[in-house]
Amino acid sequence: MRMSIIFTPFFPGKQNTLFLVFCTFLFSTWLAGQHVLIPIETSQNALVLQVDKDNHLGIIYFGRKLGPGNDYGTIPRQYRQEENNAGIYNSAYTPSGSWSLVEPAIRITHGDGNTSLDLQYISHQTSKQDENVSVTTVLLKDPVYAVEVTLNYKVYAAENVMEQWTVIVNKEKKPITLNKYASSNLYFIADDYYLTHYHGTWAREMKPEETLLTAGIKVLDSKLGTRANLFQPPTFMLSFDKPSTEDEGKVLFGTLGWSGNFQIDLEMDSYHNLRLIAGINPHASEYLLKPNQEFKTPSFITTYTEHGKGEASRNLHNWARKYRLLDGEGSRLTLLNNWEATYFDFDENKLAGLFKDGKKLGVDMFLLDDGWFGNKYPRNSDRAGLGDWQENVNKLPHGIGYLVKEAKDAGLKFGIWLEPEMVNPKSELYEKHRDWVIRQPERPEYYFRNQLVLDLSNPEVQNFVYGILDTLFIKNPDLAFIKWDCNAVTFNANSAYLKRTGQLQTQLYVDYVKGLYKVLEKIRAKYPKVPMMLCSGGGGRVDYEALKYFTEFWPSDDTDPLERIFIQWESSYFFPAIATCNHITDWSSLPLKFRTDVAMMGKMGYDIVVSKLSEKDLQFSQQAVVNYRSISDVVWHGDLYRLVNPWEKPFASLMCVNENKSRAVVFSYLTGNRYMIPTVSQTPVRLKGLDPKKKYSIKEINLYPGTQSTLGADMVLSGEYLMTIGFNPDVNARRSSVIVEVVEVK
Ligand code: DGJ
Repeated sequence: MRMSIIFTPFFPGKQNTLFLVFCTFLFSTWLAGQHVLIPIETSQNALVLQVDKDNHLGIIYFGRKLGPGNDYGTIPRQYRQEENNAGIYNSAYTPSGSWSLVEPAIRITHGDGNTSLDLQYISHQTSKQDENVSVTTVLLKDPVYAVEVTLNYKVYAAENVMEQWTVIVNKEKKPITLNKYASSNLYFIADDYYLTHYHGTWAREMKPEETLLTAGIKVLDSKLGTRANLFQPPTFMLSFDKPSTEDEGKVLFGTLGWSGNFQIDLEMDSYHNLRLIAGINPHASEYLLKPNQEFKTPSFITTYTEHGKGEASRNLHNWARKYRLLDGEGSRLTLLNNWEATYFDFDENKLAGLFKDGKKLGVDMFLLDDGWFGNKYPRNSDRAGLGDWQENVNKLPHGIGYLVKEAKDAGLKFGIWLEPEMVNPKSELYEKHRDWVIRQPERPEYYFRNQLVLDLSNPEVQNFVYGILDTLFIKNPDLAFIKWDCNAVTFNANSAYLKRTGQLQTQLYVDYVKGLYKVLEKIRAKYPKVPMMLCSGGGGRVDYEALKYFTEFWPSDDTDPLERIFIQWESSYFFPAIATCNHITDWSSLPLKFRTDVAMMGKMGYDIVVSKLSEKDLQFSQQAVVNYRSISDVVWHGDLYRLVNPWEKPFASLMCVNENKSRAVVFSYLTGNRYMIPTVSQTPVRLKGLDPKKKYSIKEINLYPGTQSTLGADMVLSGEYLMTIGFNPDVNARRSSVIVEVVEVK
């Protein structure tokens, strides 16, 4: 069902254009006096826009929704922020070169070279897509130049999530240049602002930092092109008044759905209010818009709550599973991956042995990683072969089809690794198609992991990349999974294609990402369901636009379980467990049980040498796969609650609860094992999200063979007890990880 509430002062017709323009002007002026109010509400929150006396659109409120009978329109009267800058800072989409001198959301150069822009309110409308989802669009126009901007606010009411994007249309006679073209421009009024943002590098992703914002502009950005999130993701938390905690405080989570360069500006104005502008990074990205062409920016996704970070994260999880992540409400495959077990050193026989190992372990699938391709330049290391997607005849004389069949005979599905956007200079692809490669022909090449990036702005390259997957699927209809890797950043950004077709070189960063989405769109049109993992040398590329096409992502190459607890903890604020691939590896000498229990808090997989496991380790792992299967519904689809924060205590504890609160799983890990730090959990862990009236049994699961739980059998406690007093999982150096199943007793 599609319903629309349209408010428009426009009466389209064939009247004399000048007359129409004049009437529109008069009407707009009249309208300006009406101070049009546009409340955009979720079930809990409101963003309220208002048109001011100059016909500019401003934000007058962001926060908890007010009940019926309250007039948002009176809010500005309660603030005496009325000198010269009033109505400038709070612009809902700040133009540049006219009345505003603060950081703009949009900066353009008109066809005649003029760089000024004014945006005035014309109309707005709200369309309901269903009971939960609606989109409000607001049309703004420059009164002098024929440029139109439509602001889009899509709300998912129950999830309290808002998605914003902007469409810019050139109605001028000549091309215009977009210099900056943000997705969202928000405005907040609070006592103080605490920003939590993330930094890191390879194998050290998602290191949080919380900072009090002070006067000036704080910018979060990436200029890396591909693998844009290597040093920081477009993902942050913003607490208002004071730092928020897991269960208390006003907090907004924000993230940009864009797999390329981003920029997020946080500017404090002279009233101590905060302006937020988020979108594609304008750095070296001027974009040409021909007459009648439009540019749609990526989505900026936010959720806001007054009940702390935990609720904000559950909002995002609920939204992602239902509306964004591919097959977000479905199931996932457990797997055995060979990357850390073999690296590039394998052949058919070795793989056949690994299939048997996978079967012995009990997982659903075998995932063949890097190193299976390249003949003139065999892929025996990361120095050669990338781009030559033909099976290496020495390693795999019978091809992938044979492996798929062998795996099937062993009782496993078969998946494969690809890095389709990249090329080694030592490859046949590079020899044949140097003009497909992003490089500056006059300058020395500069490599990242010995490779270069293919130019996805070029439709021929898009077809090539699509063809890699399509050919694999056509030849191997039983192929069950793709791991899509992306290991290099974009040096020497320059496109032979854009040059040949007379387009701006500065479009490369944007057209690359658009090209990538085109390929993914085409793949999904033909292969809508095949699970695909988004990987980028670890967590170098994960965002909510890419996750439309991927079922899961790889948060980091760091699989040391201690490090991983922190990476997974932070990543879990933004992405649900069902999408987060955690593998058990030999990176660490910590007990296998600890490694396994950590992997179980997301989508579990293995990357170990099964044949080297001791008898007990194998027995434990076989049972762990069975246990994981039995709890996976709660982990994948349940609500996540963080109970003990490892940044604050030497323990981590978190739990997942199913929708009807009849089943939960509690994971507890020892994270600090240092001198004089108590390494036994001395206090009970208070559970969350249960039904206080229900009774629950507490049972430790995933025990190592030969060990017994210290929790005592037959513990039955009420939800009220568990959430008020809690229970002690008895985590200590001998029991460094504990998984407990909590089941309703009727
Ligand atoms: C980087 C990935 O993160 C690893 O898991 C592995 O697939 C390697 N690339 C293979 O080159």
